[in-house]
Amino acid sequence: MKINIVQGNIIESGADTIIVNLFAGVTEPDGATGAVDQALGGLIRELIKSGDLRGKLGEVGSVYPRGAIAAQRVLIAGLGEKADFDLEAARRASAFAMQKARDLGARKVASIVHGAGVEGVDLADAAQATGEAAMLGLYKSPKAYPEPWDVIEELTLVEFDQNKLPAIEAGARVAQANGRAVYMVRDLVLYGPNIVTPTYIADKAREIAHQYHMNVTVGDRAWAAERHMGAFLAVAKGAEEPPAFIILEHNSNRTDLDTLVLVGKGITFDTGGISLKPAEKLEDMKTDMAGAAAVLGAMQVAGELDLPLRLIAILPCTENMPDGRAFRPADILTASNGKTIEIISTDAEGRLVLADALVYASQFKPQAVVDLATLTGACVVALGAGVAAGIFCNEPALQEKLIESGQRMQEKLWALPLWDDYKRKIKSLVADVANSGTRYGGVGTSAIFLKEFVDYPWAHLDIAGMVQVDPSQENPYTPMGATGYGVRLLVDFLRKWKR
Ligand code: BES
Ligand code: MN
Ligand code: ZN
Repeated sequence: MKINIVQGNIIESGADTIIVNLFAGVTEPDGATGAVDQALGGLIRELIKSGDLRGKLGEVGSVYPRGAIAAQRVLIAGLGEKADFDLEAARRASAFAMQKARDLGARKVASIVHGAGVEGVDLADAAQATGEAAMLGLYKSPKAYPEPWDVIEELTLVEFDQNKLPAIEAGARVAQANGRAVYMVRDLVLYGPNIVTPTYIADKAREIAHQYHMNVTVGDRAWAAERHMGAFLAVAKGAEEPPAFIILEHNSNRTDLDTLVLVGKGITFDTGGISLKPAEKLEDMKTDMAGAAAVLGAMQVAGELDLPLRLIAILPCTENMPDGRAFRPADILTASNGKTIEIISTDAEGRLVLADALVYASQFKPQAVVDLATLTGACVVALGAGVAAGIFCNEPALQEKLIESGQRMQEKLWALPLWDDYKRKIKSLVADVANSGTRYGGVGTSAIFLKEFVDYPWAHLDIAGMVQVDPSQENPYTPMGATGYGVRLLVDFLRKWKR
């Protein structure tokens, strides 16, 4: 779906479907809703009076102009109480209305920006929320998509006031880019692990590099061995499928710009290895590359918006398989910074591939490094599926920026402590560090392990509970399946980055 902007009267937009909105308690709508009501001879006011239209969030009324205006139908999206209005209400209203439009067979939709003109709501943010949720709510999983007969071709955001157009244009650009990227990420996370292999992810990275003139490097086993990546290679040992250590660089030689590095865990299937996982829900471990996918999505947006940053993505990708050649519990590895690691569980593989990726990040002299990883079940136990990702950070200012972006984008983060107490739980008799402690505090030990490989401002996001839609958290713009978590959060963080 293409998102356009136009200045003018929504009645004359030429769309087959027009979306306006209504706050709860309003009986005399003004603005675009009022103008449409006028053109329809007071039909909307009549429905409000009769109680058929109440402006509740989630409500989408429909009226048929019968020739009074050119559009085939007018949808009235409820925005809820004005006092409760926020960007999340705009997102939900937009997604609900667009889904209704789709179900009615709309091809060209014109909508006003939900929240435009509401005090305290930034217009660009409102346009982004309206456009983004419109796209995200229309997403269909790979099997179903695209079905030409139920796909809306274009959404035109209409605004009467010429002065408001630049802000709407800016918001819509981000919405379009984020929408496309989240589609890509949801597909990557949902496709089976025989399709989304490390090679497949590398091909995606190459495509993005080609389209946006980025540098791309795909390291194979020999490449990683030359760089002494003993931790990454250990995880890859049991895999028949070739691993890929992917580096994607936006503005790579612009050393005048701030350098940020994004790292994404890319385990394309996590069996647990020799520390084999139980069979129940094992299929969910196809999503263990969601960190890498989110980072790839954010890179695509960075390219599309040409963000003024030197931005590096590092994606250590491999399967974690049991095999005659697989690494074992009790093995002792040496990571690329020379630290030795005693393996307690081959199922604590994410931190191993991240270790070499985090060491690799250091050479770029980054102002900040953010890693995203489906790292621990313990994080999901602590915070709840679909509620918030955990953030561990060694710099309060960086942590605050990320938490704020999470808040704005409704991709929440909750701070967890990076205390040295956890370090004592992963002491080893035979190596510098063990890759796992006991069951308790499993999320803390995972983060303190990663800290061993970091020498810059750094944040670790444990997104294990956030990548698949939890039924309790389903909403109109995150339908069942994969969420695409992290893209919008990262893009907001990158766009607002200032040293
Ligand atoms: N990929 C898993 C974590 C995970 C679990 C993600 C559930 C999504 C849903 C990770 O590699 C893992 O196996 N972690 C272990 C760590 C343990 C062995 C120290 C875990 O959480 O049990
Ligand atoms: Mn694992
Ligand atoms: Zn894993």
